[in-house]
Amino acid sequence: MGTSRKFHAFVVVGSVFMILLIVFYWDEVRASHLYLHTPVSPGPKIPHPPPEQRPHTSRPLSFLSDIDAFVNQFLEPGTGEPTDPAPADTGNQSEKADEPYVPRREWKIHLTPLAPELRERQEQRRRLIQDTCTNDSFSFPGKNRSFDDIPNQDLKHLIVDDRHGIIYCYVPKVACTNWKRIMIVLSESLLQDGVPQRDPQAIPSVQVHNGSMHFTFNEFWQRYGKFANHLMKVKLKKYTKFLFVRDPLVRLISAYRNKLEQPNSEFYHDYGQVMLRLYANLSEPPASVREAFVQGIHPSFSHFIQYLLDPQTEKKRPFNEHWRQVYRLCHPCQIEYDFIGHLETLEEDAEHLLRLLRVDNVVEFPSSSKNVTALSWVFDWFSKIPVEARRELFKLYEPDFRLFGYDRPDFILDE
Ligand SMILES: *[C@@H]1O[C@H](CO)[C@@H](O)[C@H](O)[C@H]1NC(C)=O
Ligand SMILES: *[C@@H]1O[C@H](CO)[C@@H](O)[C@H](O)[C@H]1NC(C)=O
Ligand SMILES: *[C@@H]1O[C@H](CO)[C@@H](O)[C@H](O)[C@H]1NC(C)=O
Ligand SMILES: *[C@@H]1O[C@H](CO)[C@@H](O)[C@H](O)[C@H]1NC(C)=O
Ligand SMILES: *[C@@H]1O[C@H](CO)[C@@H](O)[C@H](O)[C@H]1NC(C)=O
Ligand SMILES: *[C@@H]1O[C@H](CO)[C@@H](O)[C@H](O)[C@H]1NC(C)=O
Repeated sequence: MGTSRKFHAFVVVGSVFMILLIVFYWDEVRASHLYLHTPVSPGPKIPHPPPEQRPHTSRPLSFLSDIDAFVNQFLEPGTGEPTDPAPADTGNQSEKADEPYVPRREWKIHLTPLAPELRERQEQRRRLIQDTCTNDSFSFPGKNRSFDDIPNQDLKHLIVDDRHGIIYCYVPKVACTNWKRIMIVLSESLLQDGVPQRDPQAIPSVQVHNGSMHFTFNEFWQRYGKFANHLMKVKLKKYTKFLFVRDPLVRLISAYRNKLEQPNSEFYHDYGQVMLRLYANLSEPPASVREAFVQGIHPSFSHFIQYLLDPQTEKKRPFNEHWRQVYRLCHPCQIEYDFIGHLETLEEDAEHLLRLLRVDNVVEFPSSSKNVTALSWVFDWFSKIPVEARRELFKLYEPDFRLFGYDRPDFILDE
């Protein structure tokens, strides 16, 4: 008994010591933005998991500036719901002038509750991922591994915003430019004349895709080595995680149109020339993308599909992110996403998500009306692809179809 009690005391003292050590160590190593920011307390709207508040009590001093806002959120449990008076939200200047000072709130106050269909839709999408991941009769590469077994370079699609406690897994060809713009605005990582850029649409796309604008897990690991893994897991647990997906075949058509059908020097050199050489019988494809397009040469959609199905392709290098499967970019069986958006319902989902993240007062999703690749195109685009190849292609992308609830495209697979 005596020894057991001593042992207990020892464990308690030891733990306290370790916690202090970690707190002080972090204080030294972290960059100013690397602390575990309050995950903008998941209020009634965020489905899961419940916020864990304990770690905030041991914040180092530099955190004090944020404590005000943080405490406010907890002192006003009804905030954000209809019961709350909404003084700051009416936007009527003449009325506002008479009001007493109201501290700026972290989020917009909504007088209408979120539509139940939207809530239900998210629940279904999350449940589908869970069911697919736990279905033992359906397996795909990497499905069973644990988070720790994911190589660090495979986590580079996770963009972290510590200010608001958000993690976004970006999927190219699924509105990712605009979501990256939102992440830049939220994390205030782009300064315009000394103040953070607040207008997503004003950010040029070159800058959007420049890695230095984003804080990803990959970079995190390079900076913090061994500590990174632990911090990563804490953030994944506490932050709100989201991604956007779309019909896998439509995404492929979109990738082809954007990167191979149009002149793109980088893609021509890295992929186009390879496809022309291997599948178009061109032993000497034009040296530059300019020459190729002047001569009217570019890989056809069939060449692209052949390239995807060729077992040799991935022996040389993994699929480019524009056509790599979403399950390989975002690891939905290892990371429990809170929100799964579909490009097909982009506007509704964007509005819902920004509200869920409580940033809809800070930023608005840019609307886009470009010539978007649509599902109705699939039949035409695949009509020249042999049905065998279509079936193989479906197998290759089947996990994405099933995880994210896209129907098997029977209309091109059954002949
Ligand atoms: C703002 O308030 C003024 C006076 O109360 C009123 O005349 C005006 O219509 C209001 N504007 C809006 C946008 O509500
Ligand atoms: C699990 O996968 C099998 C094989 O693909 C499928 O037939 C079955 O319906 C799935 N079960 C559930 C619960 O989704
Ligand atoms: C994953 O685990 C399940 C049982 O837990 C097993 O049936 C399945 O074969 C495993 N799949 C792979 C790819 O290892
Ligand atoms: C990305 O941005 C950094 C700093 O803003 C700059 O030095 C770098 O050249 C940019 N990279 C590219 C590829 O534009
Ligand atoms: C490509 O060239 C090889 C030999 O040079 C020939 O056997 C084959 O039929 C050609 N394929 C096409 C599609 O032209
Ligand atoms: C959209 O793109 C397709 C193929 O790239 C083209 O046939 C169609 O005319 C375009 N539509 C518009 C409205 O630009």
